[in-house]
Amino acid sequence: MKMTDKLRVLAVIAAADILLIAGLWWAIAQWNRPGGGETPVPAGQVQRDGRNEARPAGASGDETAGEQRPGDGVKCVALTFDDGPQRDCTGDLLDGLKARGAKATFFLMGQNIPGNEDLVLRMKEEGHLIGNHSYRHIQLTKAGSDAVCDAVDKTGQMIGEITGTPPQYLRPPYGAWNDDLECRVDMTTVLWSVDSLDWKLQNRQKIVRRVLKEVKDGDIILMHDIFPTSVEAALEIIDTLTRQGYTFVTVDELLID
Ligand code: NI
Repeated sequence: MKMTDKLRVLAVIAAADILLIAGLWWAIAQWNRPGGGETPVPAGQVQRDGRNEARPAGASGDETAGEQRPGDGVKCVALTFDDGPQRDCTGDLLDGLKARGAKATFFLMGQNIPGNEDLVLRMKEEGHLIGNHSYRHIQLTKAGSDAVCDAVDKTGQMIGEITGTPPQYLRPPYGAWNDDLECRVDMTTVLWSVDSLDWKLQNRQKIVRRVLKEVKDGDIILMHDIFPTSVEAALEIIDTLTRQGYTFVTVDELLID
């Protein structure tokens, strides 16, 4: 082999080495980049960290009280409180929610707002969602659509004057609603999936038992912040479900998912 041929062979080998090293370097850089090359995880799902996968089979089934681990599904539930605000009960409930870092949704009745503006402002400032429960507790389907529009608008304006934003969500009293009203009132109506029957039971233990028996991920729970037993039950429900891995969110967060 001539000298120039030897040099040519050496040059090819050197070039191949450089390419190999560059390739390895690029691969390492990709590996270390946070989230590099991974498929985006849809909202509401917890991203599984591949390096924590080495867990004994079946270990995902045993729930450790109050502990969230990477890879566990997050269960969400929305507590909703109708017919307030009410001076004592709503105030106690807001204190309890704040202490637990839990969010809730309040559907306010217009006629109960005067004199309780501070409670309405607290709801907003403490991260809760405020909805409209019309002005008085009547069946809107029997009221005539003009009267319903007036009652809903009036309540929305009262809330807007306090918080700066009129509510987008409406819960009709008794869940009574129809297509005609749907066309006239440009709001999102929110019903419920678990009825606590708190207004009827008025007993902390019975309310707690009923809700805990029925509740599942994604539920909207109907309660009323006008009875002391409802407030006590709600806080106990939060404590128990938190230990079971539930998070308490506002209704809009569930509806978006
Ligand atoms: Ni109501």
